[in-house]
Amino acid sequence: MRSKIVAGNWKMNKNLSETKDLLSEILDKLPDTEAEVIVAPTFVNLSEAAHILQTSEIKVAAQNMHYARNGAFTGEISADMLLNINVDTVIIGHSERRAYFGETDELLAKKVKAALENKMRVIFCFGEELDERKAGNHFNVVESQLKNGLFELPAEAWQHIVLAYEPVWAIGTGETASPEQAQEMHAFIRKTITEAYDASIADEVSILYGGSVKPSNAGEIFSKSDVDGGLIGGAALVADDFIAIVKAI
Ligand code: PGA
Repeated sequence: MRSKIVAGNWKMNKNLSETKDLLSEILDKLPDTEAEVIVAPTFVNLSEAAHILQTSEIKVAAQNMHYARNGAFTGEISADMLLNINVDTVIIGHSERRAYFGETDELLAKKVKAALENKMRVIFCFGEELDERKAGNHFNVVESQLKNGLFELPAEAWQHIVLAYEPVWAIGTGETASPEQAQEMHAFIRKTITEAYDASIADEVSILYGGSVKPSNAGEIFSKSDVDGGLIGGAALVADDFIAIVKAI
């Protein structure tokens, strides 16, 4: 079901005590909102975060997972491990996973499939790099990331998918896509899904924008009709900024 979502991707930030401090400040300041608020702390603190937030409205997501149920995959985490600590949402395909850890479209498709088989919800990230946008190739890149990562899925699976369009050139750079660029791409994403599936699936999927969203630009980006919220990196690490972004929606 299409809904408003603000998700904080904490990346490799905040140790356990900092995680507790940030969560308690966010809980103190959280306004009444119809938007779903999600935080994604690092793996080692997920269990504690899930425990702290269990009676709150805030959901917890993992930043990654492996596709296998268990086995000899040193350093990896499975869907079963996440579910067992009450984490049922996972970010898959973040550009940093693609760029620094060599995650390919093919691998991501396997992870998405595994997450859905385990009845998890997936926040699937994708987006073009700067040279691809400069070359006018951004629509093709996004279309192929969607196709390779998601378009083998049966129609029913889409109710467990949230999309996060994150142009790589806007992540952590302070440079944001303009609200018009975000809207243009989000509308293109819905059109692409309509062609691959149908309009009802395209209309029902929540599409978040990510890339240097901050209190000063969130309102304008979120006001666009095809933007259903944001995946927030840097600004999610400061309670006041994150709360201001939640208020902006
Ligand atoms: P940023 O990160 O808000 O720091 O640009 C966004 C993301 O990577 O999800």
